This record gives sequence, structure tokens and C-alpha cells, in this order.
Amino acid sequence: MKKLIVANWKLNPTTLKDAQKLAASIKRTAKNTAVLCPPAVYLSAIKYPNLGAQDCFWQERGAFTGQISPLQLKNLKVKYCIVGHSERRTVGETDGQINFKLRTLLEHKIIPILCVGYGTTVEQDDLEVTDVLRGQLEIDLQGVDAAPVVVAYEPVWAIGTGQNAMPEHAEKIAIFIKNRYNIKKVLYGGSVTNANAAQFLEQRNIDGLLVGGASLVPLYFNQIISI
Ligand code: PGA
Repeated sequence: MKKLIVANWKLNPTTLKDAQKLAASIKRTAKNTAVLCPPAVYLSAIKYPNLGAQDCFWQERGAFTGQISPLQLKNLKVKYCIVGHSERRTVGETDGQINFKLRTLLEHKIIPILCVGYGTTVEQDDLEVTDVLRGQLEIDLQGVDAAPVVVAYEPVWAIGTGQNAMPEHAEKIAIFIKNRYNIKKVLYGGSVTNANAAQFLEQRNIDGLLVGGASLVPLYFNQIISI
């Protein structure tokens, strides 16, 4: 089965030229399915089979200064959208807002990549982590058909720190999410590298990866999508 490997470029790179160069250096066909999520300002100028946005708003149009709508994304042929990333939750995004975003994305047939794991700490055991996730997922998925939603489990302490979770822990959490919320695909994210990606991808219930830092290095990302 092909796994889904999502590149979250975050606020990088700083010029369109560099963004196009980076996209052009990523293989178009590989063993796994790759999705590139560049900053929104570059989305219309990047050619890649699978594109994703890093966030969106929940209204289609109107007086909402600075926002980007799922309808606009759909019209740009964007297929995926990250929602609820911990870096957005730290600047005040709530589970209620995430729920609105999921509803609008699904209406427009854009696949949401819902990030959970904000608020977890490295000391917590699996049970405590599932408590945190339950708090997020119950609100995020309220009234939503969860089946098309991809959930990315990203323990917040693992993001950009070089300290990844144990693959067995991620597997257990993936099983919990699938069993309890009718989710079909769970990704792991948090300090994924070309060196550790295989250990996650060989877990039965981990259907792919959300990759930040390593997705900016074509050599590393091309290796990850080819595992
Ligand atoms: P990282 O980021 O791979 O740099 O840890 C992952 C993410 O934030 O999605």
C-alpha cells in the first residue's frame, strides 16, 4: 500500500523562485504518494501532482481580511489542507474553529489533514496522551463525517526538536484514533528524517508522515517518499 508523505514547508522558502526550484527537485512519481504544502502565496505558481495548503478559513467569500477560503483552494486544484497544526494552535486557534474548517473543507472535497497532539509532553504515557487527543478530536470532529479526514499525530515536543516519538508509541496512538473516531488514515509527524522514516512506515497503522524540516532538503525528502 502506498503511504502518504506530506511536506509541510511552513514559512519557507522566502522567494517564489526558490519555491519553484524546491518543487521541481521533488520526484513526481515514487513508491509513496507525496503532497507538497508550500506557503499559500506560492500555491498558484507551483506545479506538482498533489498540492496542499497549510491552513484555511471556514467561509467561502466575503469581508474576512487576510483569509484564504477552501473554495479558493479548490479552484486552484489544491487537494489537501493541513488544519490545526500546533504552530497555529499556539497562536490561538481553537478546536471549535478547527471544526468549522473541517466542515467547509469537506464540503469542497478537499482532504483535511487534521493535526493533533498539541499539549502533549514527553513524560506522558499512552493513556495520558489519548486523554489529550480525545479532548481535541471530540470537538474537531463534532458533526463531521470523519472517514475522509486524515489525522496527523504530532506530539508537540517532537516538532522541530530532533527528538522523534517511538514508532511503537505512534502505532498505538494510531490504533486508538482509528478505533475510536472512524478515521481511516493516520500519519505521524515530528522530527521525521530520512534516517528514521522507515521505522514509522513499517508500522501497520501508520499510513504516512507529515514532514517539516526534512521536506526542505530534496535529497532527504526524495528518500523518504521512495521508502
Ligand atoms: P518537523 O515538523 O518535521 O520539522 O519536526 C513537522 C511538522 O511540524 O509538521
